[in-house]
Order: sequence, then structure tokens, then C-alpha cells
Amino acid sequence: MLDCALISRDDTFRRQVTEWVGHAESNARLVLDIAAAADRLPREAVSQILESQARLVLIDLGDTTTGLRVVKALREEGPDLAILATGPSLPADTLLEMMRAGASEYLPRPLSDEEVDEAFQRLRKRVATPSQDADVQGRVFTVFSSKGGSGVTTLATNLATLVANRTHERTLLLDLNPGFGTAEISLGLTPRYSYLDVIKNFHRMDAELLDSYLEEHESGMAFLGAPPVEESEAPTAAAVQGLLRLCRRHFHNVVVDGGSRLHDALVYALRDSDELLLVATPEIATLRNLKRAQNHLAVRGLGGAPPAKVVLNQVRDGTGVTDREVREVLGAPVFVSIERDDSTVQQSMNVGSPLGESGRSRFARGIARMGDGLLGTNGRRGGRLSFLKPFRSSSPGK
Ligand SMILES: Nc1ncnc2c1ncn2[C@@H]1O[C@H](COP(=O)(O)OP(=O)(O)OP(=O)(O)O)[C@@H](O)[C@H]1O
Ligand SMILES: [Mg+2]
Repeated sequence: MLDCALISRDDTFRRQVTEWVGHAESNARLVLDIAAAADRLPREAVSQILESQARLVLIDLGDTTTGLRVVKALREEGPDLAILATGPSLPADTLLEMMRAGASEYLPRPLSDEEVDEAFQRLRKRVATPSQDADVQGRVFTVFSSKGGSGVTTLATNLATLVANRTHERTLLLDLNPGFGTAEISLGLTPRYSYLDVIKNFHRMDAELLDSYLEEHESGMAFLGAPPVEESEAPTAAAVQGLLRLCRRHFHNVVVDGGSRLHDALVYALRDSDELLLVATPEIATLRNLKRAQNHLAVRGLGGAPPAKVVLNQVRDGTGVTDREVREVLGAPVFVSIERDDSTVQQSMNVGSPLGESGRSRFARGIARMGDGLLGTNGRRGGRLSFLKPFRSSSPGK
């Protein structure tokens, strides 16, 4: 079923859309109908359109091109949306601007029924689900800290491996660090592309193109890395929200290495996650630092985000802070403690193969407890899954 959103006050266009949607063969339905032109839409309408989960947006610009900003915002936050825009007849340069803003098709008025029908057919193909696995509403687990070197990358890579093995579902590890991400080293991969390439190509994104930007790890999970150098411009919050929305649609599980820099985009990623794992090491100074980060996040409007689960990493017998102290400083209990286990962690890093919960080491047992807490102890299905199964890759052709 193709879910559509209609934003128009033009009677002819409204009739054409409703007739097309009502046609049994279209296999489409209207999930949102706003009787206004784009130039009159309040900013909140963009969120309303995205929340409707429509795949095809049919939007009327009205009599001017000021509504172009809505098309831009939709494209930025909904990278794989198909957008059919209609409006006045446009000079070539404005038409180009419209396509750059992200409209998949632009139909100038007056509209003939045939033109609209043909545009629908083309867009229908574009948003056709490439596999039964696409269009899932995946879960996002974000691992982060406020102090570098706490073990975010170690835990994110091991958690992703565990989730892929236990659930046997399509799982993606996304390294959202602004630059110099190290998750790829833990996985022994040399990625050709980063999440910035995906963001830059939102306007032409579909399942096949997304697939071509990913690496496949030997565990079967997919990987999308951070840029190899610190980019001068960090991705905008909207772009990161769009990226997560895209990843959720194509993966059942998305594990994010959030790093330890609480830049704007990360704050939004935290807000849009289903599970937040805040990594702390067992020293009072680190906990105080985390407390400051918690306050900072609260001020920056992390309202609506799930409460962060505290993971105490690199714990050594009989030393460091107690669970009670953590609760007192952070106001949250320790979700799971993971022991410091140098030989196991170094060894798995050196061979580029996170253990997940396999093996008998204390570290692996800690990761297994984290998995139990997040996924429950049922459904250990194990086995290898290729993330490429549903669709094969092709060259991104940039
Ligand atoms: N439980 C553990 N036992 C032993 N070593 C660990 C453990 N967790 C992390 N380490 C080691 O600590 C170091 C830092 O870990 P990691 O790179 O995962 O931290 P990070 O928070 O991602 O750091 P960064 O801020 O650089 O991104 C690494 O050498 C890693 O192997
Ligand atoms: Mg890291």
C-alpha cells in the first residue's frame, strides 16, 4: 500500500489526486489531507507530514514559489520521500532550483488528468518497495558518553554484533562521530563512503543507492562510517534526523556510535532514539562530568527522549564507584556493569571482529547482560544474516 499526503487547496488537483488514490489499481491511500497551499503552511506542518509516514507527498505551491522552503524541509528530513509538486509555470532557473530543493516531479498548472496520471505512475515506481524487508520501522539504540575514551565505540560495535546475531534481523552500525570515527577499525573495514555521502545524496536516495554506500561486516551486519576527516561543517540536526528516519526504514535495528561530542545533531539523534546508553567509567570525576552533560541535554530540550540507561564500563573488582554512588550522582541506577578486560578487548579489536556475547570472557558476559536488558532473554536465534540479501548493490555513480 502506498501512503500519500495531499497538501493543496486547488480543486482540480485535489480531485485528480483523490480519483487516482481511490482507483483500486493504484493501491494507494491518503493518510493526510491538508487543504492549504505550501506557501501558507506553518513549520509544524512539515513534522505532521513526516509523522504521517506518507511515502508520496503531493504538494501544491499555490501561486508563488515561496512554498519551496517546505519542499526543501521535507527533502532534508525525509530523504526517501517522493515529492510531486505543482504550481505556477516556472522559468528554467526556478525550475532547476525546485528540483535541487528536492521535488521529484514538478507539474505546472493547468494540469491535465493524463499528465497527473503519468507522473503518479513514474513516482509509484520510484517508491516501489524494493523488498519485503524495506519499510520496516526499526529501533535505534544510541551509545554515547560525555567523556572520550569511555568505551562508546567498543560497546556500540559489540552491541551491534550481539543484536545482529540474536535477532537475525537486518542490523546497521552507524558511526555518527563528526570525523575520525574508529568503529570501522574495530570492525576491520575500510569504508569507501561515510554518512555524509548519504546525506549529500538525499535528493536521489532509494534502497539500492543507500545499499551501495554501506559496507558489509563478516557478522552480516551493515556499516555506515563517519567521514575520514573532521568536516568543517557538521551535519545539520535536520539532516541527522533524516538519516535516522532513512535507516529505520531499511533496518530493523540501528546501533549508533554517538561518540562523546554533544553537538546539535547528536542531541537530536538522542531525542529520536528508542534506547539511550550512556557510557560511564567508574570514577567520581567522570560521573560528575556526566551529570553536567545530563543537565546540558535537559536544557537543550531532550524532552520526549527515553531516559538514558547508564552502562558502567571498564569496571575493576573492588575499585571505583559503587552502584549507590552512581544512583546518587546521576539519579539513575546502573543498567549494566561491564568489566575491564584488556586482553579480550584488544584481541577482538586487533582482528576486527567484535565478540558480541560469544566466548566466556567476563567482557562477553557483560555484553550478554546488556543484550538481555535491551532485547530480553528470548529469541536467541543466532546464525549469519547478510544485510545485502533483499537487494544487491550497484555503484553509487557519484
Ligand atoms: N571493558 C573494557 N575493557 C578493556 N578495555 C576497554 C574496555 N572498553 C574499552 N576499552 C578500551 O578503551 C579504549 C577506548 O575505548 P573506545 O575507543 O571504545 O572509547 P570511545 O569512548 O569510543 O573513545 P573516543 O572518545 O576516542 O571515541 C580502547 O583502547 C578500548 O580497547
Ligand atoms: Mg569512539
